[in-house]
Amino acid sequence: MQEPKASQRDQFVSKVGFILAATGSAVGLGNIWRFPFLAGKNGGGVFVLFYLVCVVVLGFGLMLAEFIIGRHTQLSSVDAFKELDKRFTFVGVMGVLAAFIIMGYYPVVGGWSVAYVFKIILGEFSTDAVIMGEIFDSLTKGVGSPIFWTAVYMIVNIVIVAKGISTGIENASKVMLPMLFGLLIILVIRSLTLPNAMEGLKYLFVPDFSKISGEVMMAALGQAFFSLSLGMGCMITYASYLGKNENLVENATVVPILDTLVALLAGVVIIPATVSFGFDLDSGPGLVFVTVPAIFATMGPVIGRIFGVIFFSMVVLAALTSSISLLEVVVSYLIDNRNWGRKRAVVITSIILFAICIASSLSMGIWSKYTVKGMNIFSLLDWIANNILLPLGGIFITLFVGWFWDRDKVKAEVTNNGTVKFSLFNVWIFLCRFVIPIIIALVLLRGIGII
Ligand code: TRP
Repeated sequence: MQEPKASQRDQFVSKVGFILAATGSAVGLGNIWRFPFLAGKNGGGVFVLFYLVCVVVLGFGLMLAEFIIGRHTQLSSVDAFKELDKRFTFVGVMGVLAAFIIMGYYPVVGGWSVAYVFKIILGEFSTDAVIMGEIFDSLTKGVGSPIFWTAVYMIVNIVIVAKGISTGIENASKVMLPMLFGLLIILVIRSLTLPNAMEGLKYLFVPDFSKISGEVMMAALGQAFFSLSLGMGCMITYASYLGKNENLVENATVVPILDTLVALLAGVVIIPATVSFGFDLDSGPGLVFVTVPAIFATMGPVIGRIFGVIFFSMVVLAALTSSISLLEVVVSYLIDNRNWGRKRAVVITSIILFAICIASSLSMGIWSKYTVKGMNIFSLLDWIANNILLPLGGIFITLFVGWFWDRDKVKAEVTNNGTVKFSLFNVWIFLCRFVIPIIIALVLLRGIGII
């Protein structure tokens, strides 16, 4: 099969199309589910501060690097590196592996979100911590039911990805993002008007530096990568569908801003409410599923149900636009590298992923006794992918752009052959050569306890 030429490759239809799709990939469970629970667990303010530093210093620079590689080569990540410099092919492969690992548990949380749409319809919510905990546990610690919901979630993924890139992803993001913003703002108002909410707001934004540690920094770094969909070639793959006259710098600025806004909004909804209800900030992956329905409970049975159903439907949509981008990384590797057909690639990959998801799901319940360093299968997959593989990918991607790629070619690509201005070009190259790889390396070494 011939390599698709630029003109033949399926492209995003419009400029907003790409921003929407890239933001759709970035905004997902990472923002609404993972960010609040990590912030709750890792000391609040210090975590948030370090996370924001990572987004500003690393996020923009790395996203731009990925966009450039993708659009320049018009290839998915593994092939892109193969074409640019064979020695870096492993970076692409590592990314496919990371996508695979993340998709081994992401659909489980996606499945919980689908299940919660129905739980809310049935009115299963309350402001009582014990009741909310029981509702969450009865779902996640079970066997058949969480696996069933994971399957439902995966099937929707399969259908969208099997159809190809622009139709599915662009359309889903178009509806989801504006609605999600609107809804989060309503919830922020509700949450902040709960008694004692200001305590929670303080916890989230006022750093307590005594709580800083290698682990907290590593968690914040990993979260920045995860939330921005960076470090594994996802944005390379997406940008490979991007037209030659798009402004990459603008895209790499807008996407992180929107993504961070959603994460902060979700944090401002969830942390103050958690404090107000007297729930446990350290409750981990269950935090969002315990706290948010309790917010709806304060709105009364009818309004609470309406908002609750809309909210969890938005979470499902946000999760979908992200997980389809993860699945796309694996699938486009199989299509471009192994000459598989799209449908075959999607179906076979999904079957294997589903098996891993079953293990992750069971590790929340009957398999919770199998742990490595205190982490069950679910948390272990999450930790390996986000705290190790994505940051490593980030180091190599920025080193590649900073040191191994012809400076003039990089400049030509980022400025669309000189037609758009990028006055910070030298600063950005400096970030790629030194700052980004060094920060990541230090945090990694610190996080695993070597320094
Ligand atoms: N960013 C998504 C979220 O926050 C998850 C995701 C999608 C992702 N594509 C990715 C994470 C690529 C890492 C790499 O839910």
